[in-house]
Amino acid sequence: MSAADAHQEASTALEGEHMAAAILGLSLSSPLVIGSGLLTDQERNIRRLLAAGAGAVVTKTIHPAPPRSGNERLSRLPTGMLNSTMYSHRSVEEWCTMLRGFDRDGLPVIASIHADSPEELGILADRITESGCRALELGISCMNEEDGLEDTAERVSAYAAAVRARTPLPFSVKLAAGEGTAVRAAAAAGAGADAITLSDTIAGLAVDPDTGQVQLGGVYGYSGPGIKPLVLAEIYELRRSGMTIPVMGGGGVQAARDVVEYLSVGADVVQIYTALHKNMHNTFAAIHRTTQSWLHVHDTSVKELVGRSVSGKPHDTALSGAQRKERTCATAP
Ligand SMILES: Cc1cc2nc3c(=O)[nH]c(=O)nc-3n(C[C@H](O)[C@H](O)[C@H](O)COP(=O)(O)O)c2cc1C
Repeated sequence: MSAADAHQEASTALEGEHMAAAILGLSLSSPLVIGSGLLTDQERNIRRLLAAGAGAVVTKTIHPAPPRSGNERLSRLPTGMLNSTMYSHRSVEEWCTMLRGFDRDGLPVIASIHADSPEELGILADRITESGCRALELGISCMNEEDGLEDTAERVSAYAAAVRARTPLPFSVKLAAGEGTAVRAAAAAGAGADAITLSDTIAGLAVDPDTGQVQLGGVYGYSGPGIKPLVLAEIYELRRSGMTIPVMGGGGVQAARDVVEYLSVGADVVQIYTALHKNMHNTFAAIHRTTQSWLHVHDTSVKELVGRSVSGKPHDTALSGAQRKERTCATAP
């Protein structure tokens, strides 16, 4: 090997080390996790995004009986996007076959799952575990269902506990930023979750100024750069309050700068979704490349960035969900 090749190999290895991250028992080559959505309903997209450097991909939410609303649409806004989509229309069987293939190829794919009741979600978690999938995200906070979503700590706890009872797999509970996030996050941790994902889309609405018509016909999920400061604030406050559960942070990530901000307030990895609806591959490649070079120029690593903007207790990413549950129960008043 020539000296130039050796140098190239050494600096690639170093850059790899700088980008390394971990969540849900997975060691990731980068902190960039592709969030759940229409784009991750396709095996081809999942494989291509991983090949381009995504640390992991979260599947479109798998549901044993997805409702067919007939009104699943997207609407681009000047800032971000509104969507009325819900769950994957692929069968659980089809997903299990796909997940088996990802497992066979050693690919870090996180299955997003939801069901109509905690019991049914437990059963689904069990089925997905048998496919060889190594980690789960509970996509329980979709606000596009018919009655919207009034989330509570009790609901979060019931779903998380039902899954914890049925699978040893690490799982994250996905929450939507909004009132009472800290209480819902604590409920997830207390019920045995290994991480939380913040944030799902939040309630949004747009009106056609000419006709007065409400776009998409109602209040639906809003995503993109408009929600980033809100989510950053919530992760920052969670960390400042001493909450130690690992966090997959996301909402409005479009560039390396956003990735750095999420890590700085205490997210362990960063999810990217809406930005990828425009030139998915080029957009992802640009975020990956510029995050790598930002770390290089600042001579730092993902691990060094996590939580650097938060003074107070360092957070402990080493506890498993089961250990955390034990600890929460032991310290409860
Ligand atoms: C079209 C679309 C579909 C989505 N589908 C899902 C889903 O099935 N499950 C889920 O947990 N989140 C879903 N999300 C939410 C995203 O994963 C992400 O949490 C949210 O959009 C905020 O991040 P972003 O601003 O980077 O998109 C969807 C978002 C959009 C825009």
